[in-house]
Amino acid sequence: MKTQIGQNIAQAADWLTAGNVVGIPTETVYGLAGNALNPDAVLTIFRVKNRPAFDPLILHTNNLDRLSEYVTELPEPARLLAERYWPGPLTLLLPKHERVPDLVTSGLPMVAVRVPNHSLTLSLLASLDFPLAAPSANPFGYISPTTAQHVADQLGDQVPYILDGGPAQVGLESTIVGFEAGKPVVYRLGGMALDQIEAITGPVDVRSHSTSNPKAPGMLSSHYAPRVPLTLLSAGSSPEPAPRIGALAFRQPFAGIPLPQQRILSETGDITEAAHNLFSYLRELDALDLDHIYAETLPGQGLGAAINDRLRRASVR
Ligand code: TXA
Ligand code: MG
Repeated sequence: MKTQIGQNIAQAADWLTAGNVVGIPTETVYGLAGNALNPDAVLTIFRVKNRPAFDPLILHTNNLDRLSEYVTELPEPARLLAERYWPGPLTLLLPKHERVPDLVTSGLPMVAVRVPNHSLTLSLLASLDFPLAAPSANPFGYISPTTAQHVADQLGDQVPYILDGGPAQVGLESTIVGFEAGKPVVYRLGGMALDQIEAITGPVDVRSHSTSNPKAPGMLSSHYAPRVPLTLLSAGSSPEPAPRIGALAFRQPFAGIPLPQQRILSETGDITEAAHNLFSYLRELDALDLDHIYAETLPGQGLGAAINDRLRRASVR
């Protein structure tokens, strides 16, 4: 199949309405979208991504008002978070309405929902009479895509249309928040920093590192991995110089490694800029076909915790 990349919302809508999958831009990463209420379209998503059926999908809609069609309850802290931060890089786990096929949630009683903050995708969603199920548009286990070209490079021959919304602004997947006995729990660190969530709900538990946690089966240890082995350096340490190694550094390059084999996430030390660059720089380093990539641990404040989480997972084989 020859994939088309463009900005034609009506064309994307036609493919989706016909039960096909389409690449869509969001502020976090690009998604591989299909009609969430059509089990065949959902199956196609799993097949194209080569994703195991036990790893559930996020349902995307354009408006908090449409939520009651997909969830049966909206606890008070969830409502407050949604009102404050949607559209935005925040996913809420809520009790699933029977209208949502079990395939979307891998049989779990909760459905993950979010309103993405991208004008093209919000217009697309507004034009559809169904929500979109959309995992990140990468083959299972590989680095998430932050441009339309990344999607075309990896899934192009299986996706008829990719809606091009430019580089993803945030660059990290959404933060996933669920509620246990009314208390918020973070299952995946992501594009919305913890302190922003805690400003609304008070202290939250973070459980995103548990690989055995059935609440977030997608958070298997080896995830977001480049093909080239990656080692996460502890803060302050540097790699042993060698000719065929690469480095992902925070503010300045490491000594003893050729500069073309290094990427600097943010020269000014801006964590938001670092998040924006993270996945595309990892891809660039991976494409150099080196023997090893070393990545620097970032300060853990704000989005730094989520970046370190992705780097840790990228280092697991
Ligand atoms: O930013 C994002 O969230 C991107 C964009 C495209 O919206 N999507 C994304 O989807 O990252 P994906 O499929 O790569 O990761 C979704 C993860 C799953 O792997 C799982 O950990 C969790 O969300 N999840 C989804 N539905 C769930 C459910 N019903 N119960 C528990 N965890 C769920
Ligand atoms: Mg993913």
